[in-house]
Amino acid sequence: MQKRKLGNSGLEVSALGFGCMGLNFLDGKGLDKKDAIKLLHDAVEMGITFFDTAEAYGPFTNEELVGEGLQPYRKDVVIATKFGCKNARPTTGLDSRPETIRAVTEASLKRLKTDYIDLLYQHRVDPNVPIEDVAGTVKDLIQEGKVKYFGLSEASVKTIRKAHSTQPVSALQSEYSLFWREPENEIIPALEELGIGFVPFSPLGKGFLTGVINKKLDDIDRRNIIPRFSEENIKANLVLVDALAKIAQQKNVTTGQLALAWLLAQKPWIVPIPGTTKLHRLAENIGSTNIILTTDELTKIDETVNGITLVGDRYPEVLEKQIDRS
Ligand SMILES: NC(=O)c1ccc[n+]([C@@H]2O[C@H](COP(=O)([O-])OP(=O)(O)OC[C@H]3O[C@@H](n4cnc5c(N)ncnc54)[C@H](OP(=O)(O)O)[C@@H]3O)[C@@H](O)[C@H]2O)c1
Repeated sequence: MQKRKLGNSGLEVSALGFGCMGLNFLDGKGLDKKDAIKLLHDAVEMGITFFDTAEAYGPFTNEELVGEGLQPYRKDVVIATKFGCKNARPTTGLDSRPETIRAVTEASLKRLKTDYIDLLYQHRVDPNVPIEDVAGTVKDLIQEGKVKYFGLSEASVKTIRKAHSTQPVSALQSEYSLFWREPENEIIPALEELGIGFVPFSPLGKGFLTGVINKKLDDIDRRNIIPRFSEENIKANLVLVDALAKIAQQKNVTTGQLALAWLLAQKPWIVPIPGTTKLHRLAENIGSTNIILTTDELTKIDETVNGITLVGDRYPEVLEKQIDRS
């Protein structure tokens, strides 16, 4: 697979990464350990070198899985993980105190079975801890050789600039897809100016953009807490998927591939991290890296999406409050 550079930091990864969260933590089902590890091995064999996890996924079990699965390939892959949720549980609040960052990093290193983390993100900006202190703590961890690169997630431009002046930020990981385009307003221009890479999470709109979700989700599905995934909002938002499916059909690609190829076409320093529990979908998603969208096709996608008003918030109130709007 082609490689991409995440901004000016020197961090180079496969054009498409693998979001590991869903392996055991998204639709409430997930894979058993043996199958999840097999899929991680398949992903490496298929050219993926960039894997995303967090202590909060599980919590803890996703990092353990990733650590065990990638151990045979450790030197050949880039592992990204995250700190910053109070007690590793996103709904209980935030905690990026320097002592917590250090403790979480040590614990992540153990679970990931490694002596360095390639890319360490702050999962959400903690309003109670100055970002300079967070960046300074990661800077120390980098100097100690425990971490290689620093990242932020869902941070505002103001926070990114402050953090970047203490410790260069290599990548921002925030939601970005045809289902959520807010980063185009201020974030992407700022990242371009500062030479910071962008890692869109939920690049398939948590599965919605592929067209496989067309009715109420199972009761155990974690996406049920998201307003966009209520039964009536799913129904209303399908107009977007139907419109994209038509464009995809003309191009002879799947709707999911169109959504990923569109992201890849936005900037050469964007690296989406779709997640899947299925080998054939992994192959399908990787196929998007070979799709070139023409200017006319990109314009058509833009016009189509701009003409549709999506309904439902992308997060419930408790999680929306944690988004940095400073
Ligand atoms: N920083 C943050 O706050 C944050 C937040 C959310 C996610 N993330 C990261 O971003 C990664 C990806 O995000 P995500 O899992 O929320 O959403 P996503 O990658 O947009 O979508 C994943 C969903 O799409 C389905 N899917 C994947 N490929 C498909 C295909 N080709 N056809 C049909 N369905 C397909 C998967 O189901 P199957 O498993 O059944 O294929 C899964 O339900 C996560 O793994 C995590 O690492 C970070």
